[in-house]
Amino acid sequence: MPPSREVTITLDGLAHGGDAVGRLDDGKACFVAYAIPGETVRARILEERKRFARAMTVEVLEASPDRVAPPCPHFGPQRCGGCRLQHIAPARQAALLRQVVVDALERIGGLVDPPVAETLRPHGGDGLGYRNQARFAPDEQGRLGLRRGGSHVIEPIAHCPLLDAGASAARTAAGDTWPGVAEVVVRGDADGRASLEIHPGPGPLPPLPPGETPVAVVGTDGAVALRGEPTLREHAAGRSWQVSATSFFQPSRAGAEALATLVAEAADLREDETALDLFCGVGLLAGTLGASGAAVTAVEADPAAAEDAAVNLADLDAEVLLGDADDVVADLVEAGAHADVVVLDPPRRGAGAELTAAIATVARWRIVYVACDPAALARDARVLAEAGWELVRAVPVDQFTHTAHVEVVATFEPSSRP
Ligand SMILES: C[S@@+](CC[C@H](N)C(=O)[O-])C[C@H]1O[C@@H](n2cnc3c(N)ncnc32)[C@H](O)[C@@H]1O
Repeated sequence: MPPSREVTITLDGLAHGGDAVGRLDDGKACFVAYAIPGETVRARILEERKRFARAMTVEVLEASPDRVAPPCPHFGPQRCGGCRLQHIAPARQAALLRQVVVDALERIGGLVDPPVAETLRPHGGDGLGYRNQARFAPDEQGRLGLRRGGSHVIEPIAHCPLLDAGASAARTAAGDTWPGVAEVVVRGDADGRASLEIHPGPGPLPPLPPGETPVAVVGTDGAVALRGEPTLREHAAGRSWQVSATSFFQPSRAGAEALATLVAEAADLREDETALDLFCGVGLLAGTLGASGAAVTAVEADPAAAEDAAVNLADLDAEVLLGDADDVVADLVEAGAHADVVVLDPPRRGAGAELTAAIATVARWRIVYVACDPAALARDARVLAEAGWELVRAVPVDQFTHTAHVEVVATFEPSSRP
């Protein structure tokens, strides 16, 4: 292998994934880990391809005023891969992530000058202690941790500063006795109750850690309680939420609050209108839509989450359908049915072209798209644009501070209103 070369490079942007981007002398784009746009750094080239290169910061020659001491000892090259931006002041992280959203909508979505608002920062301050859950994997000795960046090696982590008090208590209760299991999810709820979810590996389950923390084992058929009652209770958007062991809930409570508020504002529903909430989880967004008095149909594929949603939304004009969003929307298209507003909050891969096109047919006035991956949002935004829907507002929400992830609430309206 040829010896790796070092370059001096000035960075001018942040790429999806958290690397800073600059140009090498030959004009080739170079993605530099742990640098900040505006900085000049000496970087070691790790990989060079025809159209781009990847590099690692070796020395910061001209530091950004936004460079800060990372708050976590596990942060940095060849360490925990969960956080990518701890070396950047949180307010600047938020501004850079807004540009990542703009870039995705322009480059992938083909939109011109997309209306992207300033990033909303639900956590503020140092952006620590906000996560109510984390997904850990054990190393060979059974110590829980997170994967190192670009690797399968586990960085053992006893204390993650992103976790809130309940999730930290769950991490402590979990201990480090998990050799051979695939994953242990630690969760804490709004009432400070901790719980553990074990995703078993191929071998026998190790003995449970001492204590009374509820434990569920999550198989392909759902969760089975091994000890105690692993159902959590969350409070957000003025309501209380039952969250079973396998059910999704937003990993940040302040983030959940912000998303629910933004979605309610964007949907702008009247009492006599109808809404469809696809990928509804335990009903967080359906709950905020239903509070307007509108009739809401919520769709969820996970049986436990759908059951939670039915309980959580029982006092509203809401119906919960257990099923695949694609199938439900395809049926609506076939029946020629409409909803005044369609809200969707799909997993990272996005809704995909087929479902997005079907939603464009079913929705009457507004489509509110909650995305956890700007690239997936941009792909689906292109489909919506082709179907005659215009992006009227996108609000990035920094609900994963210190990581390179950003949530977006995007509102689309028919481009030629009657
Ligand atoms: C990102 S979560 C959104 C949950 C909810 N909107 C919230 O804010 O809490 C995505 C949800 O979609 C569900 N899901 C995944 N694939 C699905 C599909 N094909 N059809 C319906 N629901 C699906 C998951 O079980 C999960 O609850």
